[in-house]
Amino acid sequence: MDALIITGGRRLTGKVRAGGAKNAALPIMATSILADGPLVLRGVPDLADIRTMARLLGLLGVKVERKRGGTMVLQSAGRSPKNRAPYDIMRTMRAGICVLGPLVARRGAAEVSLPGGCAIGDRPVDLHLKGLRALGARLEVEHGYIVGSCQRLRGAEMYLGGPFGSSVTGTANVLMAAVLAEGTTVIDAAACEPEVQDLAHVLVKMGATIEGIGSPRLVVEGVDRLHGCEHRVIPDRVEAGTYLVAGAATRGDVTVDGARWDDLFALVNTLREMGADVERLDGTIRVSARRRLASIDVTTLPFPGFPTDLQAQMMAALTVADGISVVTEKIFPDRFMHVAELGRMGARIRKQGNAAVVHGTEQLSGAPVMASDLRASAALVVAGLMAEGKTTISRIYHLDRGYEGLERKLRSLGGRIRRINMR
Ligand code: UD1
Repeated sequence: MDALIITGGRRLTGKVRAGGAKNAALPIMATSILADGPLVLRGVPDLADIRTMARLLGLLGVKVERKRGGTMVLQSAGRSPKNRAPYDIMRTMRAGICVLGPLVARRGAAEVSLPGGCAIGDRPVDLHLKGLRALGARLEVEHGYIVGSCQRLRGAEMYLGGPFGSSVTGTANVLMAAVLAEGTTVIDAAACEPEVQDLAHVLVKMGATIEGIGSPRLVVEGVDRLHGCEHRVIPDRVEAGTYLVAGAATRGDVTVDGARWDDLFALVNTLREMGADVERLDGTIRVSARRRLASIDVTTLPFPGFPTDLQAQMMAALTVADGISVVTEKIFPDRFMHVAELGRMGARIRKQGNAAVVHGTEQLSGAPVMASDLRASAALVVAGLMAEGKTTISRIYHLDRGYEGLERKLRSLGGRIRRINMR
């Protein structure tokens, strides 16, 4: 098993490029099931989750070809009888659930394993089922699988808000089904995340009619069929945000090329309030910090609020900020796996319900730590870069699910980081 060794204490300086967004690419890949022609995607990151989705789509009768330079071509075998998404794959990657809507809408049948448990807490799929049922799909949960069947779906009006707000993949699933339903669908309390917007733009390119993209109310006029299209996936705001946080936390000067300002504005605002300089320059975002950052209270919220996928990295930065910060998690209330590991590095954090109180300390010290989930791992990397001495992060396969070329990019910024095989 691989581990990362980081020798901390160096300011990060220079420029890195954000890759294509994993969370945009995954549902977009699933739209291939809906289209009659090929889907040509550019800017698809080379990550474990993307390879898993490609394997899943392969089992569902989609021919997936990976070309050089981040291009992927996906062509569905139309009404293939291969409609089973097995547990083996679904337990490793929750985004696999995004094949449910397309299978039901295009093929009238689906057998999709419920996704596996997850270190960041409960992740139910009731909103996915609610929305698809509203469109007329018959969905039963049997032996751990969602078994779906339907004739043609019919447009409907629905409210998709849950106890923790809207659902990103839930909205994606229902939207992908609604575009082929007969008549008008109104999705209220739809997720507004940039990844959902990107998905909607792809569906429109395929011939769908969708109004209200980027707003919490999507109105869809169903069409009979969709054709293939070409699309470049948006840059990854979480990857970009991680480098910006690392830049500010190491009191460095980092420019992220391709980062979209509007997608990251909650982070930009937070970093500024902590005393960092953040500016937008020709399609890049530059952050620099000369002094110790100030503490701040951060609450995660659905877009355009502060993203839960940057909560852990921000908490790592706050461990050495001047003062006390309260980090409140409103999307995944149990998403605090990183707290104990940061504590091993000298962080002073007290968890209280869905919040963590962080007492800023002068300096972290390197330690052996263990990655527990994707973004918690990124937080440990940020902490390792700031800490005095050596940090060894084990179980980094989580990081490989979401960060392409992480060590290469951090080394280009002056970080001392290398991968070793622990076997
Ligand atoms: C997506 C992202 C993930 C991000 C999350 C929130 C992908 C592949 N993953 O996950 O990185 O952290 O959005 O921005 O895009 N919920 C329900 N019922 C449901 C579905 C969700 O109650 O049917 C709850 C969840 O438990 C959670 C909240 O709604 O508390 C938001 O979850 P959701 O937006 O669905 O997350 P994902 O789409 O799984």
